[in-house]
Amino acid sequence: MKSSKSEFDLQNKSLIGRSIVTLDDLSIPQIQELLNKGRYINSHRKEVAHTCDGRVLATLFYEPSTRTRLSFETAMLRLGGQVIGFAGADSSSAKKGETLHDTICTVSHYADAIALRHPKEGAALVAANSCNIPVINAGDGGHMHPTQTLADLATIEARFGSFDGLTVGLCGDLTFGRTVHSLIETLCRFGNIKFVLISPKELTTPQYVLDRINNEPTCSYVQTHDLMESIADLDVLYMTRVQQERFFNEDEYLRLRDTYVLDEQKMREAKSTMAVLHPLPRVNEIDTRVDNDPRAAYFEQVENGMIMRMALLSSVLGDQLQGYEG
Ligand code: NCD
Repeated sequence: MKSSKSEFDLQNKSLIGRSIVTLDDLSIPQIQELLNKGRYINSHRKEVAHTCDGRVLATLFYEPSTRTRLSFETAMLRLGGQVIGFAGADSSSAKKGETLHDTICTVSHYADAIALRHPKEGAALVAANSCNIPVINAGDGGHMHPTQTLADLATIEARFGSFDGLTVGLCGDLTFGRTVHSLIETLCRFGNIKFVLISPKELTTPQYVLDRINNEPTCSYVQTHDLMESIADLDVLYMTRVQQERFFNEDEYLRLRDTYVLDEQKMREAKSTMAVLHPLPRVNEIDTRVDNDPRAAYFEQVENGMIMRMALLSSVLGDQLQGYEG
């Protein structure tokens, strides 16, 4: 027991002060540790309520958000810390022409950690290189969204106990859906996953993400346009919204946005144990009547998002969760 405790200490130390641009910035044991911490936090809310006393988190959101920003903020508040920030580039000095580098550098003198959402791919990496405090990527354009993946992993693990051997369908906008890219990247590292990539031909998975699957011998994928062809095989069905804001052509968006609508009739063809995930917001992709189906896991995902952000924030700040033994 003693030696595993000191291993935990080492592992935990190595997260302190680190920026998280993608989950590749964490080892698999560190991701597993975050999942363990998440379970602990969920059942020890009072004990952890002063973990980050005196800390300040800055949430800098240059793009719209409901869940990600509010869950980051709630996570910090529930750990005893406080929050500053802005929810829109127009209310920041970006409007006056300030560079991201200068804004991040400035805020790093006020806050202990930054959660950044930005429309440009690579913005989180630029920010991480612009300051000496942890920057957590809360979504950079169509690239990555690592903390959503932590929420997704916690939700899948709660339903299935592990990721091993799962058939995971991802459906919708696989080109611009950053949550999809982050999730595939990370599940590949756990290994032994069959991916079913379901999208219109205009919105297929980028090659760099397919390469991740190709490079992992225990993982495989099929690409299809037909949700019903594969729904009966799936353990997880991850629905996504067509990312209107990343389209150049409004007509194209209108033509594609309702390609897949998961409804009660389609759910009848799925396994009784299948879990339906969606990072939200949904537009039309899931009929609201599916919400009452026990297989609908997307509001569990919302709660897991807050919990996993609590786990991550306390870890990068190096603040110990009271009573957590590792
Ligand atoms: C996602 C995002 O912003 O990438 N939302 C979220 O953070 N939960 C998905 C989306 O906007 O479609």
